[in-house]
Amino acid sequence: MAKTGALDLASGLGGKIDKKEVLSAVEQYEKYHVCGDQEERKANCTDMVNKYYDLATSFYEFGWGESFHFAHRWKGESLRESIKRHEHFFALQLSLKPGTKADFMKMPFADNSFDAIYAIEATCHAPDAVGCYKEIYRVLKPGQCFAADEWCLTDSFDPMNKDHQRIKAEIEIGDGLSDIRTTKQCLEALKLAGFEVVWEKDLAVDSPLPWYLPLDTSNFSLSSFRSTAVGRFITKNMVQVLEFLGLAPEGSQRVSSFLEKAADGLVEGGRSTCRIADR
Ligand SMILES: C[S@@+](CC[C@H](N)C(=O)[O-])C[C@H]1O[C@@H](n2cnc3c(N)ncnc32)[C@H](O)[C@@H]1O
Repeated sequence: MAKTGALDLASGLGGKIDKKEVLSAVEQYEKYHVCGDQEERKANCTDMVNKYYDLATSFYEFGWGESFHFAHRWKGESLRESIKRHEHFFALQLSLKPGTKADFMKMPFADNSFDAIYAIEATCHAPDAVGCYKEIYRVLKPGQCFAADEWCLTDSFDPMNKDHQRIKAEIEIGDGLSDIRTTKQCLEALKLAGFEVVWEKDLAVDSPLPWYLPLDTSNFSLSSFRSTAVGRFITKNMVQVLEFLGLAPEGSQRVSSFLEKAADGLVEGGRSTCRIADR
């Protein structure tokens, strides 16, 4: 798990966005969540998600590593080990070899071209699950498998509960999501796209350690120090200094803030009855 330094965080912040335009990109990104509704986010999903990853990627690389996903965790296992095990699990299910990446809503590939497809915490960004799964179904050879790790709202989510609504909104703005689908919606979308669901499991249910542990402020770990409460406090203040000195672009602290919000939302959601679980 590559750990980048403070200057990499500062210089990478904004990705492909011109440094002078970072603040304006932050404002436009926040507007999708603060002023816009789900439909507006879905209609502008590519722009919203691209802006999110341009703004957030250097934070992910600094605080988490090169794999941007969670994993259910065994006792005695480090975060890095759990993430690698999770990836190996997918690779093993599908006998994967190095493959290729493309926009999953519109792939530049012929029908029936792939022996296997996987997505780890990525298709949650799709504005339309059926459309995304249909596209995956189209390029898969008949009878071959698609394996995915989705972010889902479990049955415990109550759409009328104000706290649940707030937690969901915090995760959406902090993780570049136009909406978070329920498990039922994802499973139905897979079937509507033509798939037969051969295996599905809420991996959070029997995980000995919670998936959100690395973000939990009551947890301390030297091996994933930067995602602990102290690590996050240091990062937040460091970003403030870097932005003040002009080493990080204007708007950097605002990115840091919505990522903090996401981390808190994920932990609160994971802890509460409104569990947002990996499936
Ligand atoms: C949380 S990250 C997970 C990335 C990777 N699977 C991993 O585990 O490191 C979500 C990823 O989804 C990708 N993504 C979002 N929208 C996409 C789209 N329309 N087509 C392809 N990838 C997309 C983002 O670029 C990002 O890399």
